Amino acid sequence: MVPSFFIALALGPHMVSSTDYKSQLNEALDELKPSTNRTAILEAVAELHHASVNVDECQGCLNRLTVGKKWAREQPGVVPEAYTTWCLEYKAGSNKSCNTNYARTTVERDVEGSNFVDLLQMIDPEGYDAALYCHYLENGSCDKPKTPDASLSYLWPPKQKKHYLAPEPGNETFNVLHISDFHIELDYTVGAEANCSAVMCCTPHSLGRGGGGALYKGHWDSFYKDAHYEDEFTYVKGAYYDVFKNKSISAPAPTFGHYRCDAPEILINSSINSVTDYAKKNNLNFEFALFTGDLIDHDEQQWMDFERTLTSEEVGFRDLKNRLGDLPVYSTLGNHDSYPYGEIAQEGYGFTNKYTWNNELMAHMWKDYGWLNASTAQYARTHYTGFAVDTKVGLRIISLNSNCYYRKNHYAFWNATNPDGFGIWSFLIEELVDAESKDQRVWIMAHIPPIVDGLPLPSKIFYEIIERFSPYTIAGIFFGHTHLDQFNILYAANDTKSAKDVINHAWISQAVTPWFNNNPSWRYYEVDKDTFSVMNAFNYYVKLNETFNNGGDEPEWLFEYSCRDGYNVTWPESSPLNASYWHKVAQEVKHSVYHRQMYENYATRFSPYVPDCSKKGECLHDYCTLTSFQVDDFDDCVSLVKK
Ligand SMILES: *[C@@H]1O[C@H](CO)[C@@H](O)[C@H](O)[C@H]1NC(C)=O
Ligand SMILES: *[C@@H]1O[C@H](CO)[C@@H](O)[C@H](O)[C@H]1NC(C)=O
Ligand SMILES: *[C@@H]1O[C@H](CO)[C@@H](O)[C@H](O)[C@H]1NC(C)=O
Ligand SMILES: *[C@@H]1O[C@H](CO)[C@@H](O)[C@H](O)[C@H]1NC(C)=O
Ligand SMILES: *[C@@H]1O[C@H](CO)[C@@H](O)[C@H](O)[C@H]1NC(C)=O
Ligand SMILES: *[C@@H]1O[C@H](CO)[C@@H](O)[C@H](O)[C@H]1NC(C)=O
Ligand SMILES: *[C@@H]1O[C@H](CO)[C@@H](O)[C@H](O)[C@H]1NC(C)=O
Ligand SMILES: *[C@@H]1O[C@H](CO)[C@@H](O)[C@H](O)[C@H]1NC(C)=O
Ligand SMILES: *[C@@H]1O[C@H](CO)[C@@H](O)[C@H](O)[C@H]1NC(C)=O
Ligand SMILES: *[C@@H]1O[C@H](CO)[C@@H](O)[C@H](O)[C@H]1NC(C)=O
Ligand SMILES: *[C@@H]1O[C@H](CO)[C@@H](O)[C@H](O)[C@H]1NC(C)=O
Ligand SMILES: *[C@@H]1O[C@H](CO)[C@@H](O)[C@H](O)[C@H]1NC(C)=O
Repeated sequence: MVPSFFIALALGPHMVSSTDYKSQLNEALDELKPSTNRTAILEAVAELHHASVNVDECQGCLNRLTVGKKWAREQPGVVPEAYTTWCLEYKAGSNKSCNTNYARTTVERDVEGSNFVDLLQMIDPEGYDAALYCHYLENGSCDKPKTPDASLSYLWPPKQKKHYLAPEPGNETFNVLHISDFHIELDYTVGAEANCSAVMCCTPHSLGRGGGGALYKGHWDSFYKDAHYEDEFTYVKGAYYDVFKNKSISAPAPTFGHYRCDAPEILINSSINSVTDYAKKNNLNFEFALFTGDLIDHDEQQWMDFERTLTSEEVGFRDLKNRLGDLPVYSTLGNHDSYPYGEIAQEGYGFTNKYTWNNELMAHMWKDYGWLNASTAQYARTHYTGFAVDTKVGLRIISLNSNCYYRKNHYAFWNATNPDGFGIWSFLIEELVDAESKDQRVWIMAHIPPIVDGLPLPSKIFYEIIERFSPYTIAGIFFGHTHLDQFNILYAANDTKSAKDVINHAWISQAVTPWFNNNPSWRYYEVDKDTFSVMNAFNYYVKLNETFNNGGDEPEWLFEYSCRDGYNVTWPESSPLNASYWHKVAQEVKHSVYHRQMYENYATRFSPYVPDCSKKGECLHDYCTLTSFQVDDFDDCVSLVKK
């Protein structure tokens, strides 16, 4: 059913009403009724206890899945309460984590117990599913199971000789903006504790002290509670706010954000303004923009509910639209951009009605904003895994929802030996086969780089797809998620990681949110008009600490570095910054502390917290991070690094 939409005037012309989405989700979540059968609940708790005693941690976890599955099938309403009770009594986690993992999900309560019940109904409690679950979702209680041998290569035609070569770039370029990871903190409060010990500082619910205040010298003066942008580009500072009258605050949160906090909306507005300013000043046009996900903050789940999830998504995209005007923005959702956190279900098994609201909202906004046409929006509305767009310039962009392979998505843990449970890979392959047959080049975008929080089998499948369609068809791969300016090289599976083994590489974008310890940043690519190969990337940032003590002035966004010049690696002017280029950079990073430091400086945008790579124990995994694409390769690489 397509809900009706209302314009909510208070939120501005580009906002839609949340009521329909909320009641839609509420109805879906209500399908799991809490059990009132005390006998059954007590029985289930006793069985969970019994399953856990006199066995090792791994076996205990596996046994509980068998118990849980039986109850999830017979009396699902028993499971959230029984598992939470067991978890608390058995001290398997804190009160908070027991509730987050097992309590029943509602529109007010961002917890994952209902998704856990869905998973239990489907999981194979004895095979790969269970071991995978116990490894990734129960604290490594089981060792990582061996990744199954699986392949989707039957879905594509053989690779022909010409497919082993990338087309040669021409001599004209256009520009593409890449901006990512807003993580808007709706609760950001000027003057709240920035030096807190709980997860998210700068909010009225920040707890404790310590960790965030290393920089504070007692003389900051950028405390303007009401500062905001009017008419998009006009900065209004408002009155100074005396944060020092509250003696219990050790480091008050400044106007434009802090390193231990997610982004206040004013920082997001400022970052997008800096894009348009820069473009205007330099007479630069962008052809389109990529937004690689995560609009929602990292606040603890108890401070999140459906309404805030929805608002964060709406506000982030609205702020982009209002400032970028007619520039199309191609987006993907991040692990935070779901409700509850991190989840998405496969189509066709009865769980998708919990996620329909998000697809409908995205399809509606992206179409309304002119970013997707009606048929693509309709596709995005009904398919959970992604969509593809043929841009005006002839490039195809395929946007994937990386929650399908996220290691905190409960739905990714059943029938996990299936190489394509979500249909995401067959969709990608279909698009690539079609593009290849038309000699069309493709960019792939998703939020999560597989080695960071992806599951092993999907990362292997993703790898084999990229290998098949590189370098002829795949001209670029773009991720966000890590908040760090990074790249990921794919090498041939023979594992020598030498220059002739390079297959392709992914660009991982820096973030606008300063969380955690980074300077806010964005980049743009200079792209070859004929081949869509990336010729250069230009990175911009703000020294956030300089906004702490500047009388509340707007941040000054600065040019940081260009990827072609930044690493002092010689490279032919006419060659794109392809995997062979990044291979040379990775070799430098591997062999010299100087280049490792350079990489870390860029990764964090010269943050005051950048690690010192000359110190023992620092920057140890950089080379593995930059040169692994599959989860197992990364794990193996890291396990060989000497401490
Ligand atoms: C309550 O659960 C017990 C144990 O599973 C079961 O035997 C009983 O039939 C249930 N009672 C009701 C009213 O469903
Ligand atoms: C894993 O351990 C952490 C920290 O001890 C705890 O917070 C969490 O709840 C545990 N998770 C499970 C599923 O037991
Ligand atoms: C445990 O968490 C629940 C739900 O978050 C809360 O209602 C309850 O008061 C907490 N109990 C303790 C002992 O902290
Ligand atoms: C670009 O290349 C085309 C054909 O290869 C050539 O005709 C043109 O002069 C070149 N333009 C510049 C600015 O080098
Ligand atoms: C932050 O909190 C820690 C722990 O209370 C304290 O030692 C430190 O001085 C605080 N930092 C500032 C800048 O107040
Ligand atoms: C950010 O910009 C939007 C318009 O795009 C405006 O509605 C909102 O109030 C601004 N917020 C701040 C804090 O500047
Ligand atoms: C001072 O800050 C503390 C900690 O955030 C807060 O609980 C308290 O309400 C504040 N007091 C005033 C007067 O704002
Ligand atoms: C919409 O875009 C898609 C993909 O870019 C394209 O295939 C389709 O023809 C377009 N539809 C319309 C109605 O323009
Ligand atoms: C599980 O995956 C296999 C392929 O590995 C597939 O044939 C089967 O249909 C899947 N089961 C379900 C219930 O979807
Ligand atoms: C590894 O595989 C690549 C691509 O198949 C090949 O070019 C290269 O020679 C191989 N390297 C070794 C050391 O076998
Ligand atoms: C940059 O590279 C050149 C040539 O390889 C070398 O002479 C120079 O010392 C390098 N500069 C830095 C700062 O590494
Ligand atoms: C901000 O941090 C950078 C990096 O640590 C440092 O070089 C700079 O001096 C700092 N600026 C201020 C105003 O503290």
